Amino acid sequence: MKKIVVLTGAGISAESGLSTFRDEDGLWEQHPVERVATHEAWERDPVYVNDFYNMLRGKLLAAKPNDGHRLVADLEKKYQVTVVTQNVDNLHEMAGSTHVIHLHGELMKVCSSRDVDNPHFIKTLTPDNLEVAPGEKAGDGSLLRPYIVFFGEAVPNIEKAAAEVMEADIMIIIGTSLAVYPAAGLMRFAKPGTPIYLIDPRPTVSAKQNLHVIAKGASEGMRELSAML
Ligand code: APR
Repeated sequence: MKKIVVLTGAGISAESGLSTFRDEDGLWEQHPVERVATHEAWERDPVYVNDFYNMLRGKLLAAKPNDGHRLVADLEKKYQVTVVTQNVDNLHEMAGSTHVIHLHGELMKVCSSRDVDNPHFIKTLTPDNLEVAPGEKAGDGSLLRPYIVFFGEAVPNIEKAAAEVMEADIMIIIGTSLAVYPAAGLMRFAKPGTPIYLIDPRPTVSAKQNLHVIAKGASEGMRELSAML
């Protein structure tokens, strides 16, 4: 089976009602990154950061996968698919994608603030248990924190994601401004000549030899691309 890697960003969840970060009404307009999404912000005011992610979880609860997520999941009928997402929502999984790599963490998970990637202390929250109380502790006695990769922290899954891109026969990029590294650099790992399809209503890259741009929203763009593949 041919391999497809799908790199996604906030734009694929826009039609599910979740804000992107850098569009005009983006999340970083209302909540400055340096107060809620950097390692220093967490160290400085963990209660404020914790409240921000409690709020985001509430928004996620109301969100459903859209056709973009569903058509990505449907690719698994014909291809071996790996979704590499920058999103912390779980909409790809809810749409049926079975191999999802999260580069920037997962909103429904919380972890130790001393040993972030230690699986013993990672907890998955549920719809009826969405909030972390101020000062709540992880299993190792440290402050429980969002399982989110803050700016300034390592992106442990980038090597795994790059290895998948190196094996891809086709790469699809949906709904990302390609503004944040190392995620934005992933397409460089594609074998020369690998067709890359980018779906975005306001693309930040222009078409070149093997990069095809579909300047449409995720659902419409995936309908068009699915018919081509
Ligand atoms: N369908 C597809 N793409 C869309 C749609 C849509 N309906 N609406 C907006 N977009 C596109 C925008 O044109 C933009 O290119 O989605 C992209 C969103 O870009 P960002 O807001 O920068 O989100 P993203 O690229 O995912 O940000 C990367 O930055 O803040 C960090 O960790 C955060 O994972 C995030 C990372």
